Amino acid sequence: MIVVVTGGAGFVGSHIAEHYAKSGHSVRVIDNLSRARLLGRENVTFDFNWRFLSEMDGVQLIRGDVRDLDTLIPLVDDADVVFHTAAQTAVTTSLVDPVPDFSTNALGTFNVLEAARRASKKPAVIYCSTNKVYGDNVNRIGTIDRGDRYEFPESFRLGVPETFSTDLCEHTPYGCSKLTGDMYMQDYAGTFGLRTGVFRMSCIYGTRQFGLEDQGWLAWFAIATILGKPIRIDGDGKQVRDVLFVTDLVDAYDKFLKSGLDHVVVNVGGGPGNAVPIMHVIELLQEMTGKKSPISYADWRPSDQKVFVSDIRKAKRVLGWEPKVSVKQGLERMVEWIQAHKGIFEA
Ligand SMILES: NC(=O)c1ccc[n+]([C@@H]2O[C@H](COP(=O)([O-])OP(=O)(O)OC[C@H]3O[C@@H](n4cnc5c(N)ncnc54)[C@H](O)[C@@H]3O)[C@@H](O)[C@H]2O)c1
Repeated sequence: MIVVVTGGAGFVGSHIAEHYAKSGHSVRVIDNLSRARLLGRENVTFDFNWRFLSEMDGVQLIRGDVRDLDTLIPLVDDADVVFHTAAQTAVTTSLVDPVPDFSTNALGTFNVLEAARRASKKPAVIYCSTNKVYGDNVNRIGTIDRGDRYEFPESFRLGVPETFSTDLCEHTPYGCSKLTGDMYMQDYAGTFGLRTGVFRMSCIYGTRQFGLEDQGWLAWFAIATILGKPIRIDGDGKQVRDVLFVTDLVDAYDKFLKSGLDHVVVNVGGGPGNAVPIMHVIELLQEMTGKKSPISYADWRPSDQKVFVSDIRKAKRVLGWEPKVSVKQGLERMVEWIQAHKGIFEA
């Protein structure tokens, strides 16, 4: 197959590129390397994934921007599948400046679909959507305080399903721009017969994730614990997230490609079996590393959800997919990788 990965210098994109290159496919990565500049750590972040992929057979690296349709058209024309991971990924950044968030996430996604619609081979398009599309409707479900964690009431014990309303609520600009892409993916399947897979992702974590407080919190907590840097918790630490190790995510995409389904919208997250309060993640990291960072608490973030757990039964039913890596196993793999590459985080 010819596989195009937008945002391939990023965390999720680099894992997709690695998976398909190692399986013998021809991979084209396009990235504008903006995430690295955003973090002010160009030499550490994009450089690492860029170099990692450049050493792999079958990977072609293209520095380009998804906001430019003319760049995408020739790249996508003969492709079999496009994984669209490129995005402005931080909710916090979208609140400070919603313009680049909109242009990359909404227009950039539209461009990817247009390039696919005009392509001679009509590739499948996989979209990295997010649980943020459900907005603060999630907070209206209500929560039960169990002392060390919040929980959904019994009616949502299995999590939030794909049929949950995305309407009549606040989203944040990031939630709006990602939902725009989500809806266009659905529409291009219906209106133009494009094969699209919409994956509403929870917290994804893993190796080669250069997390910061604003995005990629799990990786950031692990990096901070290992380096002994202070950790700030927005809220009280009892908020619960269903977390998913990145190789399980790539497995879900692959199952869709192999499924023969024309179109799907599914939640992909750790589900109820991998739902953890963030304070518990910190305690696990402390146990694994034998280290303890100073911890402080700040206000809740706007629209932050006290609990988010995905109902992943649809992914199991239609794709035959479920997470294989437990929270403990995933954290161990991530900690091991950070410890082996500690030097780049100290730079
Ligand atoms: N990581 C998570 O927990 C998570 C959860 C839900 C959804 N998502 C979605 O998954 C996708 C991948 O996330 P990630 O964690 O790998 O983020 P990341 O920031 O590591 O990767 C995104 C990549 O896109 C690139 N990029 C940004 N704007 C671009 C543009 N205009 N043109 C070309 N490239 C551009 C960045 O340079 C970066 O390398 C995103 O679409 C994100 O919204 C991620």
